[in-house]
Amino acid sequence: MMHEYHFFTHSPEETTLLATKMAAQLLPGDVLAMRGNLASGKTTFTQGLTSYFDIAEYALSPTFTYINEYHGKSQDVIHIDAYRLTSGAELITMGIWEYYESGAIIVIEWADIVAAAIPEDAIGMSFRAVAGEDNGREIVIHSPRLLSFFE
Ligand SMILES: Nc1ncnc2c1ncn2[C@@H]1O[C@H](COP(=O)(O)OP(=O)(O)O)[C@@H](O)[C@H]1O
Ligand SMILES: [Mg+2]
Repeated sequence: MMHEYHFFTHSPEETTLLATKMAAQLLPGDVLAMRGNLASGKTTFTQGLTSYFDIAEYALSPTFTYINEYHGKSQDVIHIDAYRLTSGAELITMGIWEYYESGAIIVIEWADIVAAAIPEDAIGMSFRAVAGEDNGREIVIHSPRLLSFFE
């Protein structure tokens, strides 16, 4: 059963705050499969996640420039931007499975492009600009397990 959570944010700061609330509930090995157009807030949300995990070091993988590895004190986060990829097979060739098994939290932007390489139990996220509101973003989360965003 999927649990759906629906949000509207009105600034980048609100999006990063939402991300920190989500980060607090994430577990090692979680995969966040993000969809949404350019500038819809996917990377902004990811920055909220990495700030929650106290990411001190920023490492750009030398071989796989589509993949950024962030090493947190207690949790690693792998950030993948699939925008320039064409299929899930490509991501598999790049060694995505090792990342899935590494205990890192995996964030994948443009997950729809690499759908064939997204695990079934991934947490799906859709980002959308709100018409008529420059800084409005609609963020919908589909999670296979319960999440809570109340304080
Ligand atoms: N509510 C909001 N949430 C996230 N970003 C917003 C919001 N309002 C305005 N923005 C701006 O929209 C842009 C989002 O860019 P980014 O997060 O890189 O999107 P994506 O990774 O989806 O292409 C940033 O310039 C950010 O400042
Ligand atoms: Mg982005």
